[in-house]
Amino acid sequence: MKSAHIFLSLFFIACLAQVSFGQITGTDHDFSGRTWNSSGEICIVCHTPHNANGAVTGAPLWNHQVTGATFTPYSSTTLDATVGQPAGNSKLCLSCHDGTVAVENYGNVTNGAEFLSGSELIGTDLSNDHPISFSYDATLASTDGGLYDPTTQTSGLGGTIGDDMLFAGQLECASCHDVHNGAGYSNFLRKSNSGSALCLTCHNK
Ligand code: HEC
Ligand code: HEC
Ligand code: HEC
Ligand code: HEC
Repeated sequence: MKSAHIFLSLFFIACLAQVSFGQITGTDHDFSGRTWNSSGEICIVCHTPHNANGAVTGAPLWNHQVTGATFTPYSSTTLDATVGQPAGNSKLCLSCHDGTVAVENYGNVTNGAEFLSGSELIGTDLSNDHPISFSYDATLASTDGGLYDPTTQTSGLGGTIGDDMLFAGQLECASCHDVHNGAGYSNFLRKSNSGSALCLTCHNK
């Protein structure tokens, strides 16, 4: 009896360590209650099982209108990476967060009226935002000198930085954020930034 209890306790501790408790329901990304969403569904604003929007290569069954904006990328005198226009899944985020496409422009809707505003509006000027949509590899890490090698450094999320935080080797919005709130941290962060833990995952400072 006693050992069964210990076993069960250990089992639940193991589960706690593995399973994330966040979920999208009730978050800023749950648009199921909007008057413009007659389906009452959550995923549909961003994904569809059929006839997906192929405008962004590799996008997961995308159902939202994709931004056509031209962006001002981040630059600095010390930046080593080559940062161009947003690509990959960052472009999906910016299809609401750049403020040029309405939140309810999904399916065939293109004339929605709800636009992002306030601090959640990232805009088309990305020169004041952490760089995105560039290749982060071992060469960049050694050139920079202050970055961990993403192919070997563990992320704290189960594998290496490359396994868990990069998309086709690129750093994107979703390197730091989980759009589905999987981890349950504020600002949809992928891991806690307490003591700058998120930043220190990649930056050796
Ligand atoms: C606000 C937009 C948004 C909503 C709502 C949303 N997603 Fe996503 N989803 C994305 C974006 C952006 C990506 C690509 C970034 C990534 O993989 O983290 C993605 C990736 C995915 C992927 C592929 C990568 C992975 O995480 O496995 C699946 C599967 C997925 N979503 C399922 C769902 C389901 C199911 C729902 C509804 C419960 C949902 N999503 C709701 C934006 C959304
Ligand atoms: C369908 C439109 C849409 C897409 C696509 C989308 N978002 Fe959002 N997001 C929103 C809206 C709208 C809000 C703010 C809701 C509000 O004002 O309450 C928001 C809020 C947020 C917040 C703030 C959450 C908080 O707790 O304060 C973050 C962070 C965020 N989004 C990141 C992302 C990232 C990263 C992606 C892509 C991986 C993404 N979003 C894709 C519409 C979107
Ligand atoms: C290098 C990590 C990183 C990347 C890349 C990143 N973010 Fe963030 N983002 C954060 C952190 C950390 C916060 C919380 C900031 C804070 O606590 O003030 C945040 C906050 C936000 C917020 C909420 C702002 C607010 O004040 O309400 C939004 C929206 C957001 N990010 C969207 C995006 C989008 C869209 C992209 C891609 C274009 C992106 N982020 C790329 C780390 C990142
Ligand atoms: C997933 C890995 C990753 C995470 C997490 C991350 N960064 Fe970065 N960051 C990078 C890479 C790679 C660069 C590009 C460095 C270069 O090319 O010089 C960069 C660039 C920067 C730069 C610009 C450097 C320059 O020379 O202009 C700053 C500042 C920065 N990050 C701060 C942060 C902060 C603060 C956080 C936490 C909120 C953070 N980073 C989280 C990988 C990351």
